[in-house]
Amino acid sequence: MPDGSLNDRGIASLIEPGRVHRRVYTDPAVFELEMQRLFGRAWLFVGHATQVPNPGDFITTDLGRQPVLMTRHHDGSVRVVLNRCTHRGIKLVAERQGNRQRLICLYHGWTFDPDGTLLRVPVDEGCAPGFKLCDFNLAKAPRVGVYRGFVFASLSPAGIAFDDWIAPMKQNIDDIVDRAPGGEIALDAGVHRYLVRANWKMQAENAVDSYHVPFSHASTVNQKGVQFSRREGDNEGAKVVDGQRTAPQWKQRRSYSVGHGHCWTSNTELKENERSSAVYDEYRRTLEAAVGKERSDWILTPRMHNSLLYPNVSFMGLNMHIRVIKPIAVDLTEVNIYPVRLLGAPEAMNERNTRLLNVTHAAASFVQSDDLEAFARAQAGLQSLQTDWVDISRGLGREEAIDPPGALRQMATDELVVRGQFRAWLDYMSEA
Ligand code: FES
Ligand SMILES: [Fe+2]
Repeated sequence: MPDGSLNDRGIASLIEPGRVHRRVYTDPAVFELEMQRLFGRAWLFVGHATQVPNPGDFITTDLGRQPVLMTRHHDGSVRVVLNRCTHRGIKLVAERQGNRQRLICLYHGWTFDPDGTLLRVPVDEGCAPGFKLCDFNLAKAPRVGVYRGFVFASLSPAGIAFDDWIAPMKQNIDDIVDRAPGGEIALDAGVHRYLVRANWKMQAENAVDSYHVPFSHASTVNQKGVQFSRREGDNEGAKVVDGQRTAPQWKQRRSYSVGHGHCWTSNTELKENERSSAVYDEYRRTLEAAVGKERSDWILTPRMHNSLLYPNVSFMGLNMHIRVIKPIAVDLTEVNIYPVRLLGAPEAMNERNTRLLNVTHAAASFVQSDDLEAFARAQAGLQSLQTDWVDISRGLGREEAIDPPGALRQMATDELVVRGQFRAWLDYMSEA
């Protein structure tokens, strides 16, 4: 039984093989420790290089509790610096995004370059003896890693190397980026942003939860149990429900857990041979012209539905988007949904993809609104003292070992991926 303390023993007692204590979702002290030990240590998605295309461009975000700026410096490099003036500590930039060649603090006018170099202090005759500008540059994120334009940072100088952390998930990023005939994507088509009154882990778990779909999203299937079309060129989506039961096709999905909390689910089989529309056919021709027919066929064969790079970003292959999870409080989370623009694809294809996302993952859309309701109700239900435990035991003991060593697979309607996330959670949350 958990003893209530948050030393290593107390934290470990919150996680059992097939269940977790409700405090991991409800206790503000656990959340504070997550901000220090998990979000303060892990590699976190910051942004995509295409969000800051020109020198002076910036976006602001938070890595756990820490406000950061991702900028494009004058030399063309992308930088991640802490969004905190080195004078008296105020947040240097308040806007979500913009362009400034110099970052000027509104309080006393200290002026920084986009790479964080302090250039100027007004009324410099007042500076203390020995004051040096170079001692007051903005702090840099201790470690930054980039893969195919996706910028990640760790707020800890120590920990798993970026290459080791990202290695098992490179194929999941490639799966989407390779769809661009130009070989690159852009996250410059806007964002759906909303708050949900629930713990951030609900969204991380749900991104790879295939168990809930026939029930939570019952309103998205027709009388034959088939979901509406979620890809350009399809007449209909996946068969989800068969009578009153989960459809056999749906049960064929598999989930994968590959360490560090990373995980993904495979796609449901759709009618690939029938996929066609004027817009899709033109896109397909463009991709074939760029990479050849064989490679194009391979790229367009769906393998992954949704992938989670633990803890804060997921990649969805069906309604293509990047989802960024920002914890704000133990019971409050910001969700950001970025449409993916395939560079080199006909703009009509990009527009259709973005519009489909409006239907499925906007704040008031089909699909995601069902999930948000479930998260909020879970947060409310977990206040109950009926039991302290949350069950995550589906498929426990039936995991199938696959390559590379340590990787596991099982039916996507089981809870392998949730358990994999909590294994990583425990690693981060332990003191050492
Ligand atoms: S707090 Fe930024 S210049 Fe004084
Ligand atoms: Fe869902």
